[in-house]
Amino acid sequence: MAAAVVPDEPGQPPKLAQDVLASKAPKMVAAGQVVNPFEVSGGVDEAGKALAIDFDKIVRDFGATPMSPEILQRFERVTGKRPHRLMRRGMVSSHRDLDKMLDRYEKGEPFYLYTGRGPSSDSMHVGHAMPFELTRFLQDAFNCPLVIMLTDDEKFMHNEKLTIEDAKRFTVENAKDIIAMGFDPQKTFIFSDFEFVGGAFYENICMIAKHITINQIKGTFGFDDSTNIGKFHFPATQSATAYATSFPHIFGPDKTKVRTIPCLIPCAIDQDPYFRQCRDRAEKMKHKKPALLHMIFLPALQGPGSKMSASVSTSAIFLSDKPNEIKNKINRYAFSGGQDTAEKQKELGGRTAVDVPYQYLTFFLEDDDELARIKDDYESGRMMTGEIKKICIQYVQDFVAEFQERRKKVDESVRADFFARKPLLFQGKTAEEVLNELEEKQKQEKAEKKAKADAEKAASKAAAPAKDTPRPTDAAVDGDAKGHKKTTSTVSVGRTKQ
Ligand code: TRP
Repeated sequence: MAAAVVPDEPGQPPKLAQDVLASKAPKMVAAGQVVNPFEVSGGVDEAGKALAIDFDKIVRDFGATPMSPEILQRFERVTGKRPHRLMRRGMVSSHRDLDKMLDRYEKGEPFYLYTGRGPSSDSMHVGHAMPFELTRFLQDAFNCPLVIMLTDDEKFMHNEKLTIEDAKRFTVENAKDIIAMGFDPQKTFIFSDFEFVGGAFYENICMIAKHITINQIKGTFGFDDSTNIGKFHFPATQSATAYATSFPHIFGPDKTKVRTIPCLIPCAIDQDPYFRQCRDRAEKMKHKKPALLHMIFLPALQGPGSKMSASVSTSAIFLSDKPNEIKNKINRYAFSGGQDTAEKQKELGGRTAVDVPYQYLTFFLEDDDELARIKDDYESGRMMTGEIKKICIQYVQDFVAEFQERRKKVDESVRADFFARKPLLFQGKTAEEVLNELEEKQKQEKAEKKAKADAEKAASKAAAPAKDTPRPTDAAVDGDAKGHKKTTSTVSVGRTKQ
């Protein structure tokens, strides 16, 4: 046993801690349910029937904070924007440190948004579009930079058949689809790992990789000794995008300042394991922990047991589908929570909790009142299955048609603009400007605090000139301690030392 113990590298956590961490890593399994970046299924019951994904259990197991009406209200107060329907209706099911990002926004402190996609095929479906739809809204609400990572390297490692050439081609095609979601080129940087790895980004990848052990990756992702080593290394790459210092062209070259800029990551909930890894180590590397918004999946046409799959064409509606294809797929394949006959439907009503057309409406229909009316009509049996399908078809067709209109305008030059390395603006200013202004402001506040403390001391000295003691306020103590080196008043320095 002793022979197997490899001495710890300097800067690595001790061996024991690694083992403990691995054994503590929550397993993402709820009664046969599997949710990790590589597999998502709600499991099956005793009869072999697919079960819905238990998102609440995932939130509990992952230790995230469920979204609450309070934080949504705060989002609205702080940004002046009504939360997106995906937020209002619980598709953004949980978060980590969203409150801290709202604090920063209130104080004018910079942060950026980070999201991504593994380009595994050139056909993106409407499920893939949902986190981007949320991100687009957040970029607008926060008026901040956004970095979109295309992990062609990850997909290459994880897919036996995928060639590097194919992965790179998917990157280009997917980037165009993503751009067509409506991002602002002034505030968005999109990159491919194959193309961008190097420089400051690669330095961060290596710094992170040096802090991660095989044990930790096994514990978090369920890999074993037959897993290729590329998969073990990749989590460092996905994490490095969460460090602002990876992007000197966006935030400037001053690492000490830039590492104080955190990011907020909107992502599907299966990506959380990557970012738990990242959050565990960020502060050790003198960076901020990334904040997260977790989204649930748009269900497959077959029902709430799984998510849409690009490789099962009858499970998904693609962003390239024609209106007729959308209509046929929903009519033919969408799982219905309605009753078998019109009579029964009138008597018992439809079950919106499992009805795919209704579920899709919650993702695509903006008007809350109309959605409530449809729910009521359907559940009470006034609305038939065919009718709710028809309404659903209309809204999904509209979403896809609007997307396709924007997509037509995304040519190679538009794409190149999003991939260009340029500074991105936060509230209309570069990160350097914001950071300098904040530094100035902090200096001013310090000076004011000190002036106030000095004045208080002078006043208390005047009131009791014989044997005065400084008032033990935080400001006075802080002011003296900080002013120690600079002050010319030996009297005040002497006092704090008494
Ligand atoms: N691993 C993700 C995928 O396979 C891609 C990704 C990278 C991502 N960084 C991200 C997704 C950040 C969401 C947020 O799709």
